[in-house]
Amino acid sequence: MTNSSAPTPPVSSGSVAQVGPLLPSLERILEDEYAVVRLPDDVDSLDPADAARVRAVVTSGRVGVSSALMAALPNLEIVANFGVGYDTTDVAQAVARGIRVTNTPDVLTDCVADTALALMLDVFRRFGASERFLRDGEWESRGFPLTRRFSRSTVGVLGLGRIGQAIARRAAAFDATILYTTRRPVEGVPWEHVPSALDLARRADVLVVAVPGGAATDGLVDAEVIRALGRDGYLVNIARGSVVDEDALIAALENGEIAGAGLDVFAHEPHVPQRLIRDDVTLLPHVGSGTRETRLDMRDLTLANLRAHLAGEPLPTPVPEVVGV
Ligand code: 8YV
Repeated sequence: MTNSSAPTPPVSSGSVAQVGPLLPSLERILEDEYAVVRLPDDVDSLDPADAARVRAVVTSGRVGVSSALMAALPNLEIVANFGVGYDTTDVAQAVARGIRVTNTPDVLTDCVADTALALMLDVFRRFGASERFLRDGEWESRGFPLTRRFSRSTVGVLGLGRIGQAIARRAAAFDATILYTTRRPVEGVPWEHVPSALDLARRADVLVVAVPGGAATDGLVDAEVIRALGRDGYLVNIARGSVVDEDALIAALENGEIAGAGLDVFAHEPHVPQRLIRDDVTLLPHVGSGTRETRLDMRDLTLANLRAHLAGEPLPTPVPEVVGV
């Protein structure tokens, strides 16, 4: 991993820009080493002379570089994205213009997979709800209702990239039967491939969403897939809110068509619909990668990509669409 105090290649002032808030220590390094400029949230208020100076943007998966912003940066060479997901950046425009995009895979896989397991355990065993029960003093008068065994259940993993595989490995340690859905079967894994999300949901006790966000997966988990989980089935999402039809999920929960859900991501973060705040839903404020260790690793990998680009060296982790750009 790159040392965050590594020597910086000389870059002219204003050529490295920040879009959206970043980890404070990343912001400080960018200020100290690159005199980073913060671009305004509103593209229309961007000064064309400032825009023309920008060669590199550092952003997070949460904010990204929109089509309009990218179009307003004529000399942009690289978008260094803090986060594995980069669906908020216009990659098609980047590819068309030869702009490189990097992300932070691998370093966050363990923490995101840990979060998926925590959500699965919590929706089956209702540890959060039972703790609230204790805190509210209800144990004084009765026991907490029985819950559902997670060990030996059937876990359906939608998307079997690095994070999906890490989830599957962890669930296998709970003696779960692992099924997965991807466009094509993944070579060399011991788990059963199920060709469609609908069949996966029909067969699984819990469907875990681990596909990237973006147009290709928008609404992939629709009303039919959600209902296919059945009255005893659970949905867990650690990927992107856009993958799940949130209204359909709310309807399925309210109608008792599924047993519950565990969500780290939402359609319109940080807004969480009031109707999702229910006892059979475990809700987290998008904390999947949110440990000190992982966020520092993500910071260092973001900087390693920026530095490599500015030094004319190969990028550590370009996104697949721009490999070779
Ligand atoms: C981060 C994430 O919270 O990596 C991702 O794609 O969703 C999370 O790890 C986010 O990108 C940082 O803003």
